Amino acid sequence: MTMRERQSVNDLSTLPASFVWGAATSAYQIEGAVEADGRAPSIWDTFSRIPGKVAGGDTGDIAADHYHRWPEDIGLMRTLGLTAYRFSIAWPRILPAGAGRPNAAGLAFYDRLTDALLDAGITPFATLYHWDLPQAQQDRGGWAVRETAERFADYAAVVADRLADRVTDWATLNEPLCSAWIGHLEGRMAPGLTDLTTAVLASYHLHLGHGLAAQAVRAVDPGARIGIVNNLSPCEPASGSEADHAAAVRADGHTNRWWLDPIHGRGYPEDMLRLYAVDLPIRAGDLETIAAPLDWLGVNYYFRNVVTDDPSGPIPYARQVPVPGARLTAMDWEVHARGLEQLLVRVTEEYGARQLYVTENGAAFRDVVGPDGQVDDPERSAYLEEHVAACARAVRRGVPLAGYFAWSLLDNFEWAYGYDKRFGLVHVDYPTQRRTIKGSGRRYADLITSHRRSRAA
Ligand code: FCB
Repeated sequence: MTMRERQSVNDLSTLPASFVWGAATSAYQIEGAVEADGRAPSIWDTFSRIPGKVAGGDTGDIAADHYHRWPEDIGLMRTLGLTAYRFSIAWPRILPAGAGRPNAAGLAFYDRLTDALLDAGITPFATLYHWDLPQAQQDRGGWAVRETAERFADYAAVVADRLADRVTDWATLNEPLCSAWIGHLEGRMAPGLTDLTTAVLASYHLHLGHGLAAQAVRAVDPGARIGIVNNLSPCEPASGSEADHAAAVRADGHTNRWWLDPIHGRGYPEDMLRLYAVDLPIRAGDLETIAAPLDWLGVNYYFRNVVTDDPSGPIPYARQVPVPGARLTAMDWEVHARGLEQLLVRVTEEYGARQLYVTENGAAFRDVVGPDGQVDDPERSAYLEEHVAACARAVRRGVPLAGYFAWSLLDNFEWAYGYDKRFGLVHVDYPTQRRTIKGSGRRYADLITSHRRSRAA
């Protein structure tokens, strides 16, 4: 960390007094209890059972058993001093068949969770979709078909009906890029498809689903505050060559503009439409639905993307290359906090974001449990400090940032990486399900306290 960066860690007073300090999780990654109380399989239950798709053959069957241990987990949030908690609601618990009759027991779980969060003084931020599409809906075509966008809105209405009297902040989708590109083009995530046309159609129906769900939640509660969560990465050329520069523009289109332009009323980027060459099934009024004004925009940030031209590689013909001398996490992702500042400034200046949250940011490292049972993880603490400092710098540059959610509260099922990669502020010993706050969790709690003090001073 440079002197300037370290100074800004200690100067969190520029963050507004109302700044929200949270942690994020998602249903399939922590809940387990996949057969409890009428839940039906999601595409991740199916995908994780296909040999070779998930490291170690891991599944979310038990995960961090949060479905049963949520009271203890809320206790941990209190200990950390969190003022907000971002979690996702499992569509297959609410509408196990994707559509049809709501499952009372599924709704009751999130009802209890919401009440307990509010009792603990923690603001719930509910995400409606974090990748666990009911398998039954996948069997009817999944995100490749328009019907799924419509069913998603029906599901959103059911959830809002039940929770909107207590939940104000809603995210429609988490990282639609991963659902569409990784799930339908690269095949590394559920549903594991590898087809460009299907992927582009999925991206479109995800956007449409977002817009329709936003309308559905607002119809239930006009005071709801609705956002969407995108994962963004600054895309930079690996060299000064024209070819690498053009590759970075394509990577930016694929990673950022395809996801930001339509929700901001700009339609789909022309250069990417030409590159994908897939006709979008746009019907009258769709683009307006997709661009319904948002109350806030969620940014998930993990790494930047330094690319080189790769004409024979997969779309977008831009290959990510390692950055010489970079510090890497256990995911081999570069630690580059400045990229977060850059993104926050960009969405503010280029897209006119009115309110932003960092809805996920965090790092996996190879945690070691000491003989005293403690987990000392200074690299994760430094990562958090640097990224929180980047947030403070962004605010000083005029970014309307309202909060930061660390990924993640708990170690959990890291999708295709299984349980091998740990992102938690809290360590989970899976055989016993014992939770231990890591050093970085304590450091995060300190940051929260020092911000509170600086604002009170
Ligand atoms: C994001 C996902 C989240 C988690 C982190 C590490 O892409 O939203 O579920 O896997 O990455």
